[in-house]
Amino acid sequence: MRILGIETSCDETALAVVENGKTILSNVIGSQVDIHARYGGIVPEVASRQHLLSMIPIYQEAIRQAGVKPDTLDAISVTTGPGLAGALLVGTNFAKGLALALNLPLLGINHLEGHIYAAWLEEKFLPDTQPGFPLMCLIASGGHTDLLCMQAHGEYQLIGRTVDDAAGEAFDKAARVLGLGFPGGPQIQRIAESAEKSEILPRAWLKGTLNFSFSGLKTATMHRAQLLGIYPKKGEAPLNPENIDKTHQMNIAAGFQEAVVDVLVTKTLQAATLYKCKGIILGGGVAANSMLRSEMEKRATLPVLVPKPVLCTDNGAMVAGAAFFSNAPLIKPSETLLDQDVIPQLRLG
Ligand code: KG4
Ligand code: ZN
Repeated sequence: MRILGIETSCDETALAVVENGKTILSNVIGSQVDIHARYGGIVPEVASRQHLLSMIPIYQEAIRQAGVKPDTLDAISVTTGPGLAGALLVGTNFAKGLALALNLPLLGINHLEGHIYAAWLEEKFLPDTQPGFPLMCLIASGGHTDLLCMQAHGEYQLIGRTVDDAAGEAFDKAARVLGLGFPGGPQIQRIAESAEKSEILPRAWLKGTLNFSFSGLKTATMHRAQLLGIYPKKGEAPLNPENIDKTHQMNIAAGFQEAVVDVLVTKTLQAATLYKCKGIILGGGVAANSMLRSEMEKRATLPVLVPKPVLCTDNGAMVAGAAFFSNAPLIKPSETLLDQDVIPQLRLG
């Protein structure tokens, strides 16, 4: 079964064709990062307009690379939430139009479920049989930090989440304090690699729960940057990024990354033990972080399934993958299907 996956929940216009939830025939990702970088973060209205501009060319490229005729697809799937309302609307409305034109079933997909099913897209993984359910899933992205126990396809229990900032959001905010660009995760990872020592920064353990908190770490990062003179104190003029002391910048970046990774790994392992899981799945943009990937693999005694970085950040293949495993009926488009709406605050589990 060949499914087209459409993802526009944030700042990637991404379309892919996937066969049987596993084999990627094409995976085209149009990133808007350079456009938003000049504002230091995602501007929702700009994102929606850019999705509109990119949608048709990226759809055509995804179909061309897959080498399929659109009328030989079996279904169309699209992220309907969670995400930016305007951005979700562009993808969902395009998907509805295409489903009608091609007379194909339309499946609305939860973005977080997409991040989980990215693990099925790796040739070497078949998580439902090796190691098998239950699986502990850590979804760490720009908007979410969720621990979900997956008992079977489509069955999730939310057992922990951030009580304030998401892990990716914390990376982005810490990068801004350090005078680095957007998105912050890859920038912090890059400079932390050259650090000779790390600044020790606090971890919020929220003992007795499987929840996370990153806002205190964000504030501590800012205070340390002020103490070391690389971030202005209240009332002081902003620093020129060229003049920021690179050693302090690298050491704080390294300490920040270690603190986030330590908490994410420790809590995921605790959760996996508590829920007697057979394996661990990592997903979401923060799962592209090389330190998180290596620490999880080093400290876990269970198999760790983490897709390659390009499948951790937003993409259309994960949407098509989740659609294949969803048990939603494949009904040809009708008026009811076209009622399919976006849900910006959609939850999983
Ligand atoms: O899943 P994603 O692509 O989009 C959302 O659903 O939010 O995640 C984006 C987030 C951003 O906050 C970005 O800074 C973070 O993932 N990220 C990383 C890395 N690559 C992306 N964080 C840490 N290390 C990375 N290498
Ligand atoms: Zn995402």
